[in-house]
Amino acid sequence: MKILKDNFNRKIEYLRISVTNRCNSRCKYCMPPEGIKLKSHDEILSFEEITNIVSVFAKLGVKKIRLTGGEPLVRRGIVDLVKKISDIEGINEITLTTNGLLLKKYATKLKEAGLDRVNISIDSLDKEKYSLITCGSSLKDVFEGIEEAKKVGLEPIKLNTVLVKDFNDNEIEDLVNLTRDNNYDIRFIELMTIGDTSNWSKDRYLSNETVLKKIKDLKPVIKKDKSSPADYYQIPGYKGRVGLINPISCGFCDNCNRVRLTSNGSLKLCLHSDEEYDLRKYAYDKIKLEEKILEIIKEKPKEHKLNEGVVIKKNMFQIGG
Ligand code: 5AD
Ligand code: SF4
Repeated sequence: MKILKDNFNRKIEYLRISVTNRCNSRCKYCMPPEGIKLKSHDEILSFEEITNIVSVFAKLGVKKIRLTGGEPLVRRGIVDLVKKISDIEGINEITLTTNGLLLKKYATKLKEAGLDRVNISIDSLDKEKYSLITCGSSLKDVFEGIEEAKKVGLEPIKLNTVLVKDFNDNEIEDLVNLTRDNNYDIRFIELMTIGDTSNWSKDRYLSNETVLKKIKDLKPVIKKDKSSPADYYQIPGYKGRVGLINPISCGFCDNCNRVRLTSNGSLKLCLHSDEEYDLRKYAYDKIKLEEKILEIIKEKPKEHKLNEGVVIKKNMFQIGG
């Protein structure tokens, strides 16, 4: 069997697919307040194009798929897409990153279609603050989504919180306390200054060190998955874990096993690079597609350059995190 290896001997086994750049929320650090120019439906990959591309990646050894957005649950037919991907030979894990707002409605169907787990974004536990950072979304919907995901077994649930200075730094303890009785991974992500929201984000960065300084009881635990960008900690006796994702100061490039497909069919080899390679034009020619993927993968950069002050132009809703 052919395998997908880059020039630094990293085996690529994980594909993240942004299925739409639309979103039913408006997080201040992600979407610009004036809104976005929507892609028309024929600009985004069809399900057939996506499944063709996934099947070629699967043949090359990719085992894990994550669906992202924008918000993946606003893409019409998302449950069918999950089903189609889970039917592809070689794919043994499908996960999804969501804001949780529509999860109550879809959790059961997603689970039945073959989805394994979900990551849910939650930046505040206070309903007014949540509404403020998302420009009007309802925290109640997210909680109901989390409960439903738990009920149907989309577990272990990971919660993502972007740390924002003078906004949620006073909630770190409450967020960590969620791990006392729940088997959640709560992951703090450092705010990245990227795309059209750079101006909003630039003075609101807070290092993840803040979490360790505030919560002295956190003890490091061994990662289950070496390629995960998070470093994990736990309060002894608590059920869940606390993950720290430091995109700026990270040291996980060496173990990177992932690439990304944008909603219009371009391959991104690194989250923090503006370089893209069009795969859509080969989506109906699997032989050519395989050849191209094997060729393009050699361009995967050794590491990102964020700590050297490079600001990428693309927005997070276009890349999917
Ligand atoms: N910096 C850090 N994380 C971000 N996300 C979106 N934009 C940014 C940013 N600028 C997060 C979302 C979600 C995940 C997909 O990426 O909150 O949890
Ligand atoms: Fe939507 Fe996620 Fe961006 Fe928030 S972070 S606006 S939920 S895509």
